[in-house]
Amino acid sequence: MSYESFDLHEMSPACGGIIEGIDLSKDLTNRQFDEIHEALLERTVIVFRDQDITPDQQVAFARRFGEPQPSAVSGFEKSKDNPEIDILEYDASNPPHVTRDLWHTDFVGTERPTMGTVLYAKDIPPQGGDTVWVNMVAAYEALSDRMRAHVDGLWAYHDSYQPYSEFVRPEMYTADKGTDYIRDKRAQYVPALHPVVRVHPVTGKKGLFVNESMTSFIKDMDRRESDFLLRYLFDYLRTPEFNYRHKWQTNDLAVWDNRLSLHYALFDYTDHRLMHRIVIQGDVPHE
Ligand code: OGA
Ligand code: MN
Repeated sequence: MSYESFDLHEMSPACGGIIEGIDLSKDLTNRQFDEIHEALLERTVIVFRDQDITPDQQVAFARRFGEPQPSAVSGFEKSKDNPEIDILEYDASNPPHVTRDLWHTDFVGTERPTMGTVLYAKDIPPQGGDTVWVNMVAAYEALSDRMRAHVDGLWAYHDSYQPYSEFVRPEMYTADKGTDYIRDKRAQYVPALHPVVRVHPVTGKKGLFVNESMTSFIKDMDRRESDFLLRYLFDYLRTPEFNYRHKWQTNDLAVWDNRLSLHYALFDYTDHRLMHRIVIQGDVPHE
């Protein structure tokens, strides 16, 4: 598709678009915003290069997509003047506990997973630290008719404790913390139940809605059946044809539609990496 307000460079057949010709430090017209929103729906993730914007300007831009939804339990430090902004700041001595190397969808362990995320790259290491997104509509549509029929109508539990657990993040559970720490952490997260095949609330398209980081169990299945099917789907979702891998530059600003996508943040760098993140409120997923 072509747009009047900017050029859109498609980055892979499945998803990803780089937008050229928009300056986010200026107020956007409704026409420009409508086209940006359209490009987001078409490409799942869009990136604006070379943006020089203040935290207030990032918040104002994010608000055009919806209400920011900062998480109390995400563990990210918040920007002092703009509590909507999570500070994701890492280097070799401070590895990313949450976003690192696990395929996930943001806040999927809640009743209303986020609509999308606006991530601004403040400092990017010379190499490494790419992010990969998966288009879950493309993945669903590439399943065989028989497999689509099999997964349609299933529901699964999503447990945000999993990526924070002592099995996945042993470095968070040093001996001095004791069992109360584990119990407290566990109590912060109540699993949410979502359809395995979700209908996108705007496009009406169907896509897979499971992720390796948090989807724990398929309802109404035997434990072994659930493990077997989830393992298959997690493996299937690694198919490179469904994804786009973005090599960040400092001052890139990315927006992704979190409703039918996965992402994965590579932790293969030792130099400083700093991102400012705003997540946007979403709605209850429907089948
Ligand atoms: C996130 C996230 C990926 C990255 O902001 O939700 O997963 O590459 N970030 O920083
Ligand atoms: Mn994320």
